[in-house]
Amino acid sequence: MAIQRVAVIGAGTMGHALALVHALGGCSVKLYDSNPEVLMGASGMIEAACATLREAGTITAPQEQAALEQVALAGSLAEAVEAVDLVVEAVVEKADIKQIVFAEIDAHAPADAILASNTSYLDVFPLIPEARQSRAAIAHWYTPPYIVDLVDLAPGPRTAPQIIPALKALYEGFGKAPLVFKKLVPGYIANRLQAALNLECLRMIEEFGVTAEDIDFSIRHGLVERLAVLGHMRKMDYTGLEMVRNGIAGGTYQSPVNTGKARVLDRLIEDGRSGVRSGAGFFDYGGASAEELFQSRDLQLLKLKTQLQNLMGEEQ
Ligand SMILES: NC(=O)c1ccc[n+]([C@@H]2O[C@H](COP(=O)([O-])OP(=O)(O)OC[C@H]3O[C@@H](n4cnc5c(N)ncnc54)[C@H](O)[C@@H]3O)[C@@H](O)[C@H]2O)c1
Repeated sequence: MAIQRVAVIGAGTMGHALALVHALGGCSVKLYDSNPEVLMGASGMIEAACATLREAGTITAPQEQAALEQVALAGSLAEAVEAVDLVVEAVVEKADIKQIVFAEIDAHAPADAILASNTSYLDVFPLIPEARQSRAAIAHWYTPPYIVDLVDLAPGPRTAPQIIPALKALYEGFGKAPLVFKKLVPGYIANRLQAALNLECLRMIEEFGVTAEDIDFSIRHGLVERLAVLGHMRKMDYTGLEMVRNGIAGGTYQSPVNTGKARVLDRLIEDGRSGVRSGAGFFDYGGASAEELFQSRDLQLLKLKTQLQNLMGEEQ
């Protein structure tokens, strides 16, 4: 399924950046926003983002030029979605407005166009007209999407089986990192983790009087490198799952795990998969010894630490 002609509806924080993502990927893009000021401003935003990518060496000057030439502003939604293969919906996160926009897209887009919504947390599928259900999906990006690679792809209840693979292939072709959800997880994974972090940060401020500076200091000096190198689940394996379980049982937090509703740690530990030192945990380590794994992790951590220090300065 060739996807080459794209409409992006909504040209705000996400829309202008998604127009750029698709243009950098080689698609022709028509961008529309119901607010003419936002639409006119989008060109400057796209140019600025493109210039940053070029200055950082991520794209070349000819690539920048080509991407800018791919984006055209449309005077109406009907004009934007005419003869496109894909419509990217990035209007405000309000169900009533999205419903109106989906109806307009339905009225004017080709029957076989794919409709991809960038919704953050709405269940958009009940808002989409019947005729579009089989070609509608969620493609949820993170800002700024021309730098952050993750894109959550989720089908609706009646999305045809070829739609998610087509979007996945398109975005992999852009060099992005699509994550396919078999079933919609409200808020997706990264946003849910951020939401959990938000709650815990606010709770620590309220209950223990820690400062925002304390929290960011702890993140910057305690979490960043390890999360970047290992992810979180792998980091648990390196900690050792019994230690993780003990920390939870210690009562620091209430969660489904220590209220007895989630047994994933118990099951892994019972199966002898208690982390890197036992050769497996959430992941298998292919027979590598704990020493080898720790050494390789440490090397990556040190490289990243040096890079971060260079980037942010010693005082950070
Ligand atoms: N901002 C983020 O970090 C982020 C990240 C991921 C997903 N999202 C999602 O992306 C979508 C857009 O968010 P945003 O942050 O870009 O919002 P935004 O407010 O910056 O932009 C939304 C744009 O939609 C336009 N709009 C409103 N009604 C319209 C209509 N009928 N037709 C055309 N355009 C219309 C507005 O004029 C506005 O410019 C939302 O669904 C949001 O949840 C946002």
